[in-house]
Amino acid sequence: MTNHKLLEVKELKKYFQLEKGKILKAVDCISFDIYKGETFGLVGESGCGKSTTGRTIIGLYDSTDGEVLYEGKNVHTLSEKEKLSFYRSMQMIFQDPYASLNPRSTVREIIAEPMEAHNLYRDKKEQMERIYQLLEDVGLNRDHANRYPHEFSGGQRQRIGIARALALNPDFIIADEPISALDVSVQAQIVNLLKKLQKEKGLTYLFIAHDLSMVKHISNRIGVMYLGHMVELTESKELYKKPLHPYTQALLSAIPIPDPDVEDERERMIIQGEIPSPINPPSGCVFRTRCPVAMEACASLKPKWKEVEEQHFVACHLYDNEITKDHDEVAVTK
Ligand SMILES: Nc1ncnc2c1ncn2[C@@H]1O[C@H](COP(=O)(O)OP(=O)(O)OP(=O)(O)O)[C@@H](O)[C@H]1O
Ligand SMILES: [Mg+2]
Repeated sequence: MTNHKLLEVKELKKYFQLEKGKILKAVDCISFDIYKGETFGLVGESGCGKSTTGRTIIGLYDSTDGEVLYEGKNVHTLSEKEKLSFYRSMQMIFQDPYASLNPRSTVREIIAEPMEAHNLYRDKKEQMERIYQLLEDVGLNRDHANRYPHEFSGGQRQRIGIARALALNPDFIIADEPISALDVSVQAQIVNLLKKLQKEKGLTYLFIAHDLSMVKHISNRIGVMYLGHMVELTESKELYKKPLHPYTQALLSAIPIPDPDVEDERERMIIQGEIPSPINPPSGCVFRTRCPVAMEACASLKPKWKEVEEQHFVACHLYDNEITKDHDEVAVTK
């Protein structure tokens, strides 16, 4: 990880216009940076806006407000020429490799498609060599080139998806739950492959996941989202050691501990109730309706995004001295 900001997300909002004039606030004012060479983990429950964030960053969606800067340039206002190099530099890997790979194309065709769309190789032989090389890079081999996606296991299909994402030699990859559909044993293999490729090719990742268990093995820093908001952001180790937001604490306590004695004695923090609708989010802090330590102020005031310790950001009134000074129940349960 370097201190070069490859991506800057500034107060980004993405609202969807629904029928009858309703507005769904999928992403509601989030800010974070991703440094070159790092893996930034983005976690949160289903529907909290992770994929929408990824899709808005890569330009599949326009932003409702705020900015996404890639190498200092606003990705939503690129010229046609700038778009070409942007789409080479940023790629996406999806949760379900089967759905994202054309079942009627061979592996060779699947990997060749982006190369041909960008006129990368005039010489077919050179292109074929590059495809073979990519297959080897992702732990497959050249014999796989003429097969179809259905002939592969889930883990192998994800390897094909990764090879395709690498076809244009990108710098930045958004991996949207790339391991969620795989068996646990295969998950670790894919995570290790992504790590290896990162080292070899100097890649930067935005790694999206819905729980914290695998993310810690791959991420340098982690951002936690809840109902379209970023609630906490810090280095991975720090997040596990010292989670500040009650929602992060709950997510962490949901991860099983392999030792049954510890697991039996441990107090679980279970979040009560259903996740509210992003069409009609709670006033004040969006987490307050499920927060075990919510205070009066949480209903009326939106918590500010605040750097409470170096590189540790949180949006929670518990860490706002103005609010907690009149309140004696500030002890945070684990
Ligand atoms: N194209 C769309 N039109 C309308 N609403 C959408 C659209 N895409 C997403 N949403 C809504 O925006 C919210 C955020 O969805 P998103 O897919 O970003 O969540 P997510 O965190 O990726 O969830 P998951 O873990 O299930 O993938 C959800 O309420 C979803 O229903
Ligand atoms: Mg998603």
